[in-house]
Amino acid sequence: MRALTYHGSHDVRVDTVADPVIQEPDDIILRVTATAICGSDLHLYRGKIPQVKHGDVFGHEFMGVVEEVGSAVTAVSKGDRVIVPFVIACGSCFFCEMNLQAACETTNPGRGAIINKKQIPSGAALFGYSHLYGGMPGGQAELVRVPKANAGPFKVPDELDDEQVLFLTDILPTGYQAVINAGVGRGSSVAIYGAGPVGLMAAACARMLGAEQIFMVDHHPYRLAYAQATYGVIPINFDKIDDPAEAIIEQTAGHRGVDAAIDAVGFEAKGSTTETLLTTLKLEGSSGKALRQCIAAVRRGGTVSVPGVYAGFIHGFLFGDAFDKGLTFKMGQTHVHGFLPELLGCIQSGQLQPEIIISHRMTLEEATEGYRIFDKKEEDCRKVILRP
Ligand SMILES: NC(=O)c1ccc[n+]([C@@H]2O[C@H](COP(=O)([O-])OP(=O)(O)OC[C@H]3O[C@@H](n4cnc5c(N)ncnc54)[C@H](O)[C@@H]3O)[C@@H](O)[C@H]2O)c1
Ligand SMILES: [Zn+2]
Ligand SMILES: [Zn+2]
Repeated sequence: MRALTYHGSHDVRVDTVADPVIQEPDDIILRVTATAICGSDLHLYRGKIPQVKHGDVFGHEFMGVVEEVGSAVTAVSKGDRVIVPFVIACGSCFFCEMNLQAACETTNPGRGAIINKKQIPSGAALFGYSHLYGGMPGGQAELVRVPKANAGPFKVPDELDDEQVLFLTDILPTGYQAVINAGVGRGSSVAIYGAGPVGLMAAACARMLGAEQIFMVDHHPYRLAYAQATYGVIPINFDKIDDPAEAIIEQTAGHRGVDAAIDAVGFEAKGSTTETLLTTLKLEGSSGKALRQCIAAVRRGGTVSVPGVYAGFIHGFLFGDAFDKGLTFKMGQTHVHGFLPELLGCIQSGQLQPEIIISHRMTLEEATEGYRIFDKKEEDCRKVILRP
């Protein structure tokens, strides 16, 4: 089959690789009909995540039709059309029972990403996301093996097309979890850092939940303009405004700051030359620029919600400010499974239209170019979907 494979930093290619086969009785083989490139894939593409091997197949946002089922699969049948959560969860361990699927302690044979790990089991395996996260081949491919098929694949109604439901695999629940974690509700004020797909989904969900003031910080004018036109955000360009948090606070009641801030950027945040340099030299784990801005923009007693991916340490972290302000932090990979019925309902009722952010529709064969455009933010790229 054809699949998008890794060959080193900024070098991904569509190669012919072996077809996947059923390995466990509760596996299925899925024929992929649509898949997307995620900002998380860009961390891999840029060579920033350890334990990615040459030839690894990427892709964790995918859907398709069940082609083959293992002997113990009861939840889906051959021919069913499903979306697949990017998190692989067993559905029955200590954490899955608590609806914390990203913490599933049974699916990841890899080391996981915690540095000071001690005896703690690794969190869930992820599709196409390095050997730290289980080394599972991803779904930017014609076919993919889906383990734990009685717990993961989620059937979608025929009347919704692929584009309408594809983002249930990751970015829509991720944006939703980010605003739920942020405590956003009717009348809230929220600052969202990052106007990529995750930031846009967070803005859509914040609107749906009745947020009153939504600030959005980025430096790509086309992304900010889209978010302003589509979700009514107040755009702030950090290339023009040196301290976005100050500009946000200026526009909040009593100059208190926003109720919540969402970091939809993560560890490759731009804007601190020192940290970018130290990170390249591996003396620093992450750029803390977006996170520090979130801590600064939020009001006392507020919440910082972090869907953006972090790995390892950050030195410049004003924990004393967070303590003095009495902040709450919530973060992590998304517990996709639990959100699906509710979010599917929102799509069916028209409250959410995640597909409108798609800017590029390409074939799987064109995936290399898709990565390049999305990474470089060329052609006003917001989100790329690929069809095998
Ligand atoms: N928690 C999860 O389960 C989960 C799921 C999906 C994606 N993610 C993560 O969410 C993050 C965003 O993903 P995406 O698909 O939107 O990626 P993206 O790369 O398209 O978007 C990131 C945006 O952040 C902007 N940015 C960079 N530095 C900034 C700064 N200092 N302040 C404000 N904005 C800044 C960039 O210009 C870009 O538009 C990534 O870290 C990704 O790995 C997490
Ligand atoms: Zn993703
Ligand atoms: Zn589990």
